[in-house]
Amino acid sequence: MSFHTTYSRYYDLFYQEKNYNAEAAFVTELLGRYGIVGGHLMDLGCGTGRHAAEFAAAGFRVSGVDMSTDMLARADARRTTLPAAIAKRLSFQQGDARTVRTEEIYDAVVSLFHVASYQTTNADFMAMCHTAATHLPRSGLFLFDCWYGPAVLADPPDVRIKRASNDESAVIRISEPAMRPHENAVAVNYTILLTDRQTQHVETVLETHVMRYMFKPEVELMLDLSGFEVLDSVKWMGGALSAEDLSATFVARKR
Ligand SMILES: C[S@@+](CC[C@H](N)C(=O)[O-])C[C@H]1O[C@@H](n2cnc3c(N)ncnc32)[C@H](O)[C@@H]1O
Repeated sequence: MSFHTTYSRYYDLFYQEKNYNAEAAFVTELLGRYGIVGGHLMDLGCGTGRHAAEFAAAGFRVSGVDMSTDMLARADARRTTLPAAIAKRLSFQQGDARTVRTEEIYDAVVSLFHVASYQTTNADFMAMCHTAATHLPRSGLFLFDCWYGPAVLADPPDVRIKRASNDESAVIRISEPAMRPHENAVAVNYTILLTDRQTQHVETVLETHVMRYMFKPEVELMLDLSGFEVLDSVKWMGGALSAEDLSATFVARKR
């Protein structure tokens, strides 16, 4: 997995249409349903900090952690553009979701937009669950989404092309997935063509992101072994989870 400079530089451009405000509202509602209203959140795999900024605007204190210093640089840059009252509720630090220890206890740990699916082995995912458990009090919540296995198998990912541009660059991203059925994973091979709009110079970047699709029984087992009880599993952005949903959201409570 790699979220190095090129990918992180264009991450927000690729996902400019993603509605982080509505997503944060969905997560906030789900946390509230299970008793967490306001307080301090740990955001594992916070990326460029867009959910974190929305949570802070809604009144949470948020500590974002990501392994990619390039993604975090963008999160920090965004923070400086926010009103002071919101910015002061936000902090970001570099760390691995599997091993980071901030020495703080949070009201809830969230991990959004398939960060869990980047933990491709049971050991990796359980280490992330252990991190969440370590940073929560009894009854604290761990909320995350992942790529949902039944939907991935019913309709496997195909070659996709995504285009995005701003004043400086035009970016084309070709995604070529290769199934790894014995690992419940997909290696998504990205070819990113980056055109400087002024010089017309084209840079080509190749990246592979291996992502795991997950099934309810294994998630429940690994959460249980990590000290959590699963309270809910819903479709990402709400509603009953069905076999057609590519993203599942889990809410677990620390025992
Ligand atoms: C698809 S991005 C999601 C970022 C952000 N949560 C969002 O919704 O925009 C996945 C992020 O997870 C981070 N990540 C993946 N595995 C990680 C790990 N073990 N520890 C910390 N960060 C991780 C990557 O660096 C990347 O920023």
